[in-house]
Amino acid sequence: MGARRVSVHGEWSSRLAFVLAATGSAVGLGNIWKFPYMAGENGGGAFVLVYLLCVACVGVPVMMAEVLLGRRGRRNPLETMATLAREEGRSAHWRWLGGMGIVAAFLILSFYSVIAGWTLAYVFRTAGGVFDGATATTVNRVFAALVADPERLLAWHTIFMGMTMIVVARGVRGGLERAVRFLMPALFVLLIVLVGYALNSGRFDEGLRFLFAPDFGRLTAAVVLAAVGQAFFSLSLGMGAIMIYGSYLPHGASIARTSMTVAAADTAVALLAGLAIFPILFAEGLHPDQGPSLIFKALPLAFGHMPGGAFFGTLFFVLLVFAAWTSAISLLEPPVTWLVENRGMSRVRATVWAGVVTWLLGLCTVFSFNLWSGWRPLAAVPGFAAKGVFDIIDFFGSDVLLPLGGLLISVFAGWVMARASSAEELGLGESPGYRVWRFLVRYVTPAGIGAVFLFRLKDALAS
Ligand code: PHE
Repeated sequence: MGARRVSVHGEWSSRLAFVLAATGSAVGLGNIWKFPYMAGENGGGAFVLVYLLCVACVGVPVMMAEVLLGRRGRRNPLETMATLAREEGRSAHWRWLGGMGIVAAFLILSFYSVIAGWTLAYVFRTAGGVFDGATATTVNRVFAALVADPERLLAWHTIFMGMTMIVVARGVRGGLERAVRFLMPALFVLLIVLVGYALNSGRFDEGLRFLFAPDFGRLTAAVVLAAVGQAFFSLSLGMGAIMIYGSYLPHGASIARTSMTVAAADTAVALLAGLAIFPILFAEGLHPDQGPSLIFKALPLAFGHMPGGAFFGTLFFVLLVFAAWTSAISLLEPPVTWLVENRGMSRVRATVWAGVVTWLLGLCTVFSFNLWSGWRPLAAVPGFAAKGVFDIIDFFGSDVLLPLGGLLISVFAGWVMARASSAEELGLGESPGYRVWRFLVRYVTPAGIGAVFLFRLKDALAS
């Protein structure tokens, strides 16, 4: 009977529309901003190899689990978990797994919007020729001036939240689907243009070697676990974003094939971003281990020195805004759908409420870089002595709630849900493919994510 439930909030017009939207969610700052600097910091090839294994062995099975729960439940994450638990004769407390996802969405979106705001600001800086012939001093000064000014950060954060709210308010058919249909292909085209540029930078071979020739000497437990965490964040797993997109998926569309397509597209974008960025970095004689400021400092420097740099730099940041926008839309969806379905609000009203709460929470990140830059709110707690406001929000959203959500989703799909239910929803019968998936979600995924979670916790406490 679960399989026949009709979605209360509409369906994608086709499987392709779901693939586009889920890819839009997955591809974002995580791929283009975080993946290159993580690869850069963790020794390149070895990290990339482990990352690819993680996407295949942990990412794809969890994504399948999330899509299957979403399509079977057909509601927002909270209601979906409650409905499915009831159907399986299990505790209604599973609803809190959905509730946890909604909290994670608020936390992550609040800082995601601020960082996306930096990207917006850089579109205009680059287009205005601010970085033409720039030196390291100029680039540092421009970045420091931006983050030091709460009014400017606030303005960009507000504009980005507004862009996100407009698409979400228009609903799945009116807004999301139309937006991603245009955004995702544009994103691919822009990335390929940039890789084409990098190909002529004279250092393409070096970039290629850095990304794909693993130096196994660099392969420590920390690198392996960093790769698991990155796969998780990059694929948008663990907080119900993919679950809710799954709830719009028509019956009959293959969940396995769809999940593999989305994971492949996400991975392709991360690798293309790496292929575009590293040759440019090497051509400028820059080190790959720049950390989170990699894009906002090193790239303008590189773009400032190359012919046509203002043009290519602007294209790059436009691309990043698009990617962040489609991810932010998916982060706002779970809270909005919950307000519509459980609180009886209109979609527009729900979007305004969820958007304003996120925007307000975002002020913490805005001030974290200037007015509150010296404030360590949890200094008394072990492991939090060095963490500012932004670090704490990021830590609870990305490092605690996402892995915990993914772990519980696997446990629910693999252990709580009857074998017959998951087999029916996946439509794979008792095929070898189904057995592999079930083995992965029952054993490999919980153990893998559990290890990441414990490692992060231990690491945080030790720092
Ligand atoms: N996957 C997105 C990115 O790579 C971020 C995200 C995480 C989006 C969780 C939705 C949910 O930028």
